[in-house]
Amino acid sequence: MSEPPVVADGLTKVFRTRRREVRAVDSVSFSCNAGEIFGLLGPNGAGKTTTLRMLATILTPTAGRAMIAGFDTRTDPERVRERIGFLATETGLYDRFTARETLRFFGRINGMAEERIEGEIERILDLLSLEKLADRRVGTFSTGERQKLSLARSIIHDPPVLILDEPTFGLDVMAARTVVQTIRLFREEKRTIVVSTHIMTVAEKLCDRIGILYRGRLHALGTTAELLDRFGGQDLEEAFFAAVGTEETA
Ligand SMILES: Nc1ncnc2c1ncn2[C@@H]1O[C@H](COP(=O)(O)OP(=O)(O)OP(=O)(O)O)[C@@H](O)[C@H]1O
Ligand SMILES: [Mg+2]
Repeated sequence: MSEPPVVADGLTKVFRTRRREVRAVDSVSFSCNAGEIFGLLGPNGAGKTTTLRMLATILTPTAGRAMIAGFDTRTDPERVRERIGFLATETGLYDRFTARETLRFFGRINGMAEERIEGEIERILDLLSLEKLADRRVGTFSTGERQKLSLARSIIHDPPVLILDEPTFGLDVMAARTVVQTIRLFREEKRTIVVSTHIMTVAEKLCDRIGILYRGRLHALGTTAELLDRFGGQDLEEAFFAAVGTEETA
């Protein structure tokens, strides 16, 4: 067996500001199996974005390491970047571009050949049912449509691994549902997906396995059923509070 497509091994990030030290991520270890959706579930400030940024080579770990498709993010960042699609919470879309122009632009940024770009664009527009939006300017899109395009953008170079930070952030239940369905489509295409969320129902519905992150530490890891079994409670929210051992974030 080859090694898992995503591995975090003792991943740690300490931010040093003038006044204090913030241990944003503290010795976090997990690995994602090929083709699974792995969720990092935690409240504001838990360390989700910091963890995902380390996986995506945007931040260098203070300690520990991250491996993507067998490549170390620290020593092989280029190879890692070729193999990941990263969705940040702030969408980097240009209002003056159409959807098609957006995908073309990001294909070029990723160094793809022109013919391949055009082929991938057609495939993705079809896969995500974006044809109607293809030639409209992004500035006229709804929040949900923008997010769908951001997701499309993240797979333009056909990466085997996707790293998605709060993909349903700011979306109503309808748009969030569309995003969840889109991410499931990506799983059907055999991509491995790491996704962060603070929304229990999104984690429960979307993720094959969930890591509970709180104050920089991974408190528990398993399927929803395993977490309920281990920590008790009627739903993931109750299991979450039992796992982190506090009521203070309620
Ligand atoms: N560049 C930075 N400098 C100093 N502290 C930082 C920096 N980035 C993040 N932090 C701190 O690290 C901790 C974790 O932040 P992070 O953004 O990873 O959390 P999060 O789980 O993504 O939260 P949210 O749900 O609000 O997005 C927080 O206490 C935050 O203030
Ligand atoms: Mg965040």
